[in-house]
Amino acid sequence: MAIRIDRYPGTGVKRGKLYFGGADVTKLAKEYGTPLYVIDETTLRNRCREYRTAFEQRYDNVTVLLACKALTTIAVSGIVSDEGFGLDVASTGEMYGGIKAGADTSMMFLHGSYKKEEELAQALKWGIGTVVVDSLLEAKTLDRVARGMKTKARVIIRVTPGVEAHTHEMIQTGKLDTKFGVPIEGGAASEIVGAVSKMKGLDFTGLHYHIGSQILDVEPFRVSVRRVAGLIAEVVEKYGVEIRDLDVGGGYPVRYTSKQALPAPDKFAAAICGTLKKEMKAAGLPLPHLYLEPGRSVVGPAGITLYTVGPVKEIPGVRTYVSVDGGLSDNPRPALYDAEYEAVIAGRADTKRGLKKYRVSGRHCETDTLIKEIALADPKPGDIMAVFSTGAYNYSMAGNYNKFPRPAVVLVNNGKSDIIVERETIEDLYAKDVMPKRLVKKV
Ligand code: LLP
Repeated sequence: MAIRIDRYPGTGVKRGKLYFGGADVTKLAKEYGTPLYVIDETTLRNRCREYRTAFEQRYDNVTVLLACKALTTIAVSGIVSDEGFGLDVASTGEMYGGIKAGADTSMMFLHGSYKKEEELAQALKWGIGTVVVDSLLEAKTLDRVARGMKTKARVIIRVTPGVEAHTHEMIQTGKLDTKFGVPIEGGAASEIVGAVSKMKGLDFTGLHYHIGSQILDVEPFRVSVRRVAGLIAEVVEKYGVEIRDLDVGGGYPVRYTSKQALPAPDKFAAAICGTLKKEMKAAGLPLPHLYLEPGRSVVGPAGITLYTVGPVKEIPGVRTYVSVDGGLSDNPRPALYDAEYEAVIAGRADTKRGLKKYRVSGRHCETDTLIKEIALADPKPGDIMAVFSTGAYNYSMAGNYNKFPRPAVVLVNNGKSDIIVERETIEDLYAKDVMPKRLVKKV
C-alpha cells in the first residue's frame, strides 16, 4: 500500500523525513511557507541530459527544445538553455520569459493555433528563430508582416498525421479531428506546403507535428514518423522543396504513480530516429535536422508541491478527507484530466505500517479533489504533505480562484535553496483592479 518514493527522482528519506534535491522539505515549508512548488535543479539537468543523449546517440543533427508551456520561469528557462536546449514558446509571454532568461532567440520556435499579427511582428523583431505555421491564413499574415519588415521569416508547417494516441481526449492533438495544424489526410498539408514555399516573405524549411501528451506507448510515435515521411516524399517530388527541418513535438510520459511502468527516453528516441532513418533511406532523401519538444517529461519529475495539512474529517462508513492548503488553483490537473498523483506526509515518509486510506482535498469552495485515494501515515493538522511529479503543468496552469495567491517556486540544488518565483501577495491579486471614480465612496 505504501508508495515507492525511490521511483521519483531527486527524492530521499533520512530519519523518516522526506528530502528533495538534498533539502529537508519540512524545513523548506517552514522557511518559504505553503503551498510551495519545489524544483530540483539536479533532476532538471539530468532530464535534459537524458533526452539529449538518447537522441544525439542515434541521430547526428538534433536539437531539443523545452516546451515552455509545461513550466516557464526565468530561472528554469535559463537552466535548460544552459543545457543546450532551445525553447518552444507558445505566446508573447513565453517568448519574453525566454529573452529575460538570456536564451538564444534563434533557438526559439513560436507555436500556436491562433497567433495574432502583432505577435508575429514581435517575434520577428525579437529574432525568434522559427515560426511554426498552423494555417494558410497565418502563413499569409506572416508573409505580409515579414515583407513589410524587409525580412524573411523562417517557417515550418504544423501538420496532423492523423494518429490517435491513447491519452486524455483534451490532450490529444495529432488526430484528424483537431483544431491544430493541417491534416495530411485529404491532401491539405501537401497543398499548404506548395503555397507557403512560394511566399517571398517566408523561408520554408520543413514540417512539425505533435500528437499528444503523456503517451505511454511508442507505437504512435513510429506511425507518425511514417506518415510524415510519406508527406515529405510527396512534397519533395511535387514542389521540388527541400525538407531541412523536422520537428516531432513532445508527448513523452512521466510517472504519476509509483506502480506505473515507464519506457525510458531511449525507447522513444530509438523508435523515432530508427523509423525516420529507415523511411528517408527508402525514399532516397537526406535526413532533416531533427527537433523535439518535450515538456512534461523534462520538468515534470523535477518538481514536487508541498502543502500544510488542515482539517482531517472522518465520515464514518464512507471515507476520511484530508484538507490541504491549496488545490484546484495550484493544480487543476485532477479536475481537468482526472490526473492521478501520489503523496506522503513529509515527516513520516518511510512509515509503512498502519497506513490508512484518505481522500486529499483542496481548500477551494467546491469539491476539489487532489487525490482520490492514497494511503497516508496518520495525517494531522500542521503536517507537511508532499505531492510528487508536479513540475509540469502545475505552476504554469495555476490560477487565482477564490483569490488565493499563487504559491512561490523554490529551486533546490544539493541541499541549498533559492526562491525563483516569489509568492503572490493579496495586493498582487488586486494590482490591476480599477475602481471607477463615480463608485468611490466618499468619507
Ligand atoms: N509541442 C507542442 C506543439 C505542444 O502542444 C505540446 C504540449 C508540447 C510540445 C509538449 O508536450 P509534452 O512533452 O509536455 O507532453 N495541460 C495538459 C498538457 C497539454 C499539452 C499541450 N501541448 C496537462 O496538464 O496534461
